[in-house]
Amino acid sequence: MKQIRKAVFPVAGLGTRFLPATKASPKEMLPVVDKPLIQYAAEEAETAGVDQLIFITGRHKRSIEDHFDKAYELEAELESAGKTELLKMVQNILPSDVGCVYVRQAEARGLGHAVLCAKGVVGDEPFFILLADDLIRGHGKGVSGQMADIYARHECSVLSVQEVPREDTRQYGIVEVEPGPGGLLRVVSIVEKPAPADAPSNLAVVGRYLLTPRIFDMLEQTDTGAGGEIQLTDGIAALLEYETVIAHPFEGKRYDCGSKLGYLEATVEYGLAHPELGEQFAAFLRAFRD
Ligand code: UTP
Repeated sequence: MKQIRKAVFPVAGLGTRFLPATKASPKEMLPVVDKPLIQYAAEEAETAGVDQLIFITGRHKRSIEDHFDKAYELEAELESAGKTELLKMVQNILPSDVGCVYVRQAEARGLGHAVLCAKGVVGDEPFFILLADDLIRGHGKGVSGQMADIYARHECSVLSVQEVPREDTRQYGIVEVEPGPGGLLRVVSIVEKPAPADAPSNLAVVGRYLLTPRIFDMLEQTDTGAGGEIQLTDGIAALLEYETVIAHPFEGKRYDCGSKLGYLEATVEYGLAHPELGEQFAAFLRAFRD
């Protein structure tokens, strides 16, 4: 049984929905309370057993590398100031048994192209893809952990899915499903950003994928699709001809932090749940409402 050890984080997008915040720094570094989005995603992958983080980066993404790198000066200053708790926190951003690889996507040619850039590093193994701007508070071991459990039982690709309002189908890859192995849902078809009238269902793929390496062969043959980009969705549609792909309606709550509203919602809910700030923040919100 293959353990899923690698996770790909495509972070080379332009983040146009969040301009001007994303003009010179990546949206994946936007903090929700006190942690950048990319760290939440990395921690979720680590909880699922991943020990190699593969970032597909572009211009203006240096801060992501710096975030997961050792910060000598900061650590020295925290140490000399006796701030041991903070020092420990900074040192543990990346556990010692987890490594990072950075691959540059020279041009933002789409999510499918970004994933294809990871081919050489992933090799012949199943792997996760996490889109960090989808922040998911997953129950139990997190959404990625839930997907790894499905892989352990069925050895096939898994897409996390969620019901969305019909009028929003243009924002997502949408799947058509039928009953599959072990009471799960098998994907019959998948289409990128369909109009509501054309959508085969209202089950949308959100930013967590567990894919077999055959996806690379599919992406190599994938032409430019919706929006003039090479779409991961089109690669997955081709994969369906060869392999079972499971749709997993995950247990948990998702925040679309690539949109301003979703980001604000996440900030409020994570602020309320924060062990240090939660009570004070709740009091502030109550006073604000009155
Ligand atoms: P999005 O569709 O959210 O695009 O990409 P975007 O550019 O990041 O944001 P908007 O829509 O312009 O505001 C989905 C994911 O795919 C990555 C993005 O970084 C994001 O995590 N991506 C997209 C790439 O890595 N490369 C690309 O060429 C396109």
